Amino acid sequence: MAGQVAQATTEGDGAKPTAVDPFEKSEGIPKGYAKRANADKVPCPALLSLYNNGDLKPEQDGSVDMKELDQALSSMGLGSTARGALLNVADGTDEVPESFNLFNLRDSNIDHAGSTGIRDPKVDPDKLDKFLSFGENGRLYADNLAKAGAHFSEIDPGFKGTVIETLELSALLQVFGREDPERDGDRYFTNDDIKGLWIDGKYPEDWKARPADDVGLLEIGGVGAEMGATRFWDAITTPIKNFFNSIFG
Ligand code: HEM
Repeated sequence: MAGQVAQATTEGDGAKPTAVDPFEKSEGIPKGYAKRANADKVPCPALLSLYNNGDLKPEQDGSVDMKELDQALSSMGLGSTARGALLNVADGTDEVPESFNLFNLRDSNIDHAGSTGIRDPKVDPDKLDKFLSFGENGRLYADNLAKAGAHFSEIDPGFKGTVIETLELSALLQVFGREDPERDGDRYFTNDDIKGLWIDGKYPEDWKARPADDVGLLEIGGVGAEMGATRFWDAITTPIKNFFNSIFG
């Protein structure tokens, strides 16, 4: 199917992030899903999924203004502090103030070590199986993601990249993960969820965005710290835990 680029709209102009209805576009697999033009140029599974679902609306050349990005991140349930941090990061990826280019993130200053390699340096579905092999019974919880992350950071080492990757995986899990009532609400992905997010840019089936502002930096950092602890337990447990705690504790 030919892709189409969603055009920026004026919808939501002047609306406060809290006025965005996070459920509006996220009932199951939203009707707006389509594999969009240049989707293969997007290295990030979260941005890819927002884009393919029509919840992130770049211009045809890929540029996205910060208001649009803020609204898209808000529709995922991310709180204002987490959004503010991400907006800053995104704004720094090119020279144009108050915007970033969705199709030029590869090789930008936030391209980092330690990623799964499934979408960077190119989309490579063959790497999916390795990632999924860290799951158990078709599910990946935070500790499974941590083990996967440890593997990828061994292949492509770098301390900063490893920390960022941990936080990204943690954020993705808190935003899109399913709650397991038998594990105290711990979140997990199924294999299909991971394939959907990373390869197809689809939200997990039946996903409903968490309420506006529900996902805070502390939660992301807290789970990231647990993942860091799992990941580095044998080697450098204490410094890593202290590092995370000094930021998020
Ligand atoms: C301002 C918004 C964002 C930007 C500009 C951005 C950018 C990126 C980039 C460039 C990568 C590729 C890194 C690499 O492979 O070296 C990436 C990966 C990733 N991002 Fe994002 N991202 C954003 C928001 C998010 C959010 C909100 C989440 C989670 C909810 C997220 C989750 C991830 C994950 C899990 C990866 C790792 C992918 C992998 O290892 O295969 N990102 N992101």
